[in-house]
Amino acid sequence: MARRGAAAGGVSERFPLDWLRLRESADLAARSPALARSFAAAMPATRPLRLIDLAAGGGANTRALLPRIWGDQHWCLIDRDRDLLAAQGEEFTLWARRQGYPITAGGGRVLIEARPACWQIETMPLDLDCDFATLVEAEFDGITAASFFDLVAPEWLERFVALLAERRVPFLAALTVDGRRDWQPRHDEDALIADAFAAHQRRVKDFGPALGANAPDVMEALLQQAGFRTERAASDWRLGMGDRGARDQALLAALIAGEAEAAREASPAAADRIDGWEKGRLALLAERRLGLTVGHCDLLALPA
Ligand SMILES: C[S@@+](CC[C@H](N)C(=O)[O-])C[C@H]1O[C@@H](n2cnc3c(N)ncnc32)[C@H](O)[C@@H]1O
Repeated sequence: MARRGAAAGGVSERFPLDWLRLRESADLAARSPALARSFAAAMPATRPLRLIDLAAGGGANTRALLPRIWGDQHWCLIDRDRDLLAAQGEEFTLWARRQGYPITAGGGRVLIEARPACWQIETMPLDLDCDFATLVEAEFDGITAASFFDLVAPEWLERFVALLAERRVPFLAALTVDGRRDWQPRHDEDALIADAFAAHQRRVKDFGPALGANAPDVMEALLQQAGFRTERAASDWRLGMGDRGARDQALLAALIAGEAEAAREASPAAADRIDGWEKGRLALLAERRLGLTVGHCDLLALPA
């Protein structure tokens, strides 16, 4: 999960590659294929397409979308974390080999031959909060981000939507958390953990007070006001259930630890109750009897 550090006026979060790797397959299973298809279909016919993935981390969102869009594509993957950008070459290489695509990677560039298409991926180190102007200068035919908008402040989102309104390009926000968390079976302290975790998510971050679980509603309203047609689909994680059970054990363990840690930070007086919750959850996990639904949504916006 995110690691915290001090930042001027707020909390700076870093997202370790291990955590992003852990969640990639759950993200992929949760995403809305229909909205991805509509995003792809709304692109202009010209090729190569110029696409931007904001706050791209290890590149998982781009990997999910590349095969859904036909023809040559040039992707620019933006993130402020240079370690994550540097890891992308290996992440794309492992992925392309599994898919059977020839790939060359080096010097911040990846070239994948998905014949007859050619996919070019470049990284751009950029702090989207401090240097929004660089994004304003970029040329793109479509723009996307995954698991990002809960981190931003309302004022930043307004600036971003104003940029979209000017460019009138398709936009896909995948996997934005909407605050729902449903543990199975229930535990008496689930509500305590959920409240403390939500308070933790809304703290002042680099961008200012973060939108947290309000992000989907605020984003959709702003996009509609700016003249976009929007469509939303649930992209919930359903962890520990059905045939994903064994696969989700490590992700569930990380979520239990991360939520307990965040709750202790937000409500130190409740540390004993939080310890009890964590122990109980880990015991059920060891018995493979734990399930968790984490509410997310995908949001597509198309110029009307
Ligand atoms: C939850 S991760 C999501 C990564 C990726 N989109 C994915 O789906 O795996 C959030 C990402 O936002 C990036 N990020 C946070 N604040 C940022 C900022 N101010 N500028 C650029 N990137 C930022 C982090 O470095 C991290 O890679």
